[in-house]
Amino acid sequence: MSENIYNFSAGPATLPKSVTDHLKLIINDFDQGMSILEVSHRSKAFKDFASESETTFRRLLNISDKYEVLFLQGGATHQFTMIPQNLSRNGPVDYLITGGWSKKAANYAAQQQIEVNIVSDSSDNNYTDVDNQDSWNINADSDYFYYCANETVHGIEIHNPINIDTPLVCDMSSTLCTRPIEVSDFDVIFAGAQKNLGIAGLTIVIIKKELIKQKAEHLNPIMRYEDHAKDKSMLNTSPVFAWYTAGLVFDWIEEQGGLQAMAQINQTKSQLLYEYIDNSDLYQNPVSKKYRSWVNIPFILKDNDLDDIFLSQAEKSGLYNLKGHRTVGGMRASVYNAMPVEGVEMLITFMKDFENKQ
Ligand SMILES: Cc1ncc(COP(=O)(O)O)c(C=O)c1O
Repeated sequence: MSENIYNFSAGPATLPKSVTDHLKLIINDFDQGMSILEVSHRSKAFKDFASESETTFRRLLNISDKYEVLFLQGGATHQFTMIPQNLSRNGPVDYLITGGWSKKAANYAAQQQIEVNIVSDSSDNNYTDVDNQDSWNINADSDYFYYCANETVHGIEIHNPINIDTPLVCDMSSTLCTRPIEVSDFDVIFAGAQKNLGIAGLTIVIIKKELIKQKAEHLNPIMRYEDHAKDKSMLNTSPVFAWYTAGLVFDWIEEQGGLQAMAQINQTKSQLLYEYIDNSDLYQNPVSKKYRSWVNIPFILKDNDLDDIFLSQAEKSGLYNLKGHRTVGGMRASVYNAMPVEGVEMLITFMKDFENKQ
């Protein structure tokens, strides 16, 4: 990102400058004069890097050896199919629907000819709140319970792990590494890298080893967690550049002070923005305060005729990609790990000036 330009995109998203600077160097020379774009995933240099990056990632999240960490292709969407194919046995599977991404995951599971039990679907409040857990229709016999920790489009975040007896599967595409978590609270965590962990092309899966022991014989190897784990995420060609970028981001997070430091900066940024929006007469955030996301902050202008002019003036001030998702409209500021506090302060200054001119 150039100086004084802030990119509020929901993903692919802004990267730390030290990471993009380093990428420029290794595009020229990663290994004996060869670019990172040219090297084999099976080269010694890349394999050494891959092993080191997994160690750093495990250290960041304090991941025990009861879990495999996989570095896969296919995007988080691919996991919407791998999860039901690998983890469903004979019972139904539970899905909590809190926004567009968990809904899509439930639809993908239903296409696998398994019984999908919708625990709760908060579409009746336009995904601005989560139904109270007392009212959820949980199935005690389900093979797993699936939810999305942070709905990137709607800006809804479930801040604490769900306490449930069945294996817990969580889409953390927009929140993994934005704060410390207790990995042992979960059975499967997955995340696309292009928000807090690098660029598109890599999906990280953290999965309890005992869950992948039961071999899903009927699947092709590419769909089986067991085969990916056995081949150390090199069953087929690995996403070399995306994986390398993630490794640089892991190092950057450690240099900043780890996940505790990420949590602090993310909480500060989101509080600043929510506080301003809540006190303004022009902007509004519709999400219930308990479930407001730390990283995706949607807001609407009270007069939506002003949307286009807001966006074009924001760009003139160096503030990009504030348009909300096409399915919900309005605006959305995504303020992931790599967005500095100054970016949010600049956004608030712009929003204040814009409001004062109306
Ligand atoms: C929460 C969440 N889950 C899943 C996805 C799908 O990710 P991908 O496009 O990498 O398949 C996204 C993408 O933005 C997301 O935000």
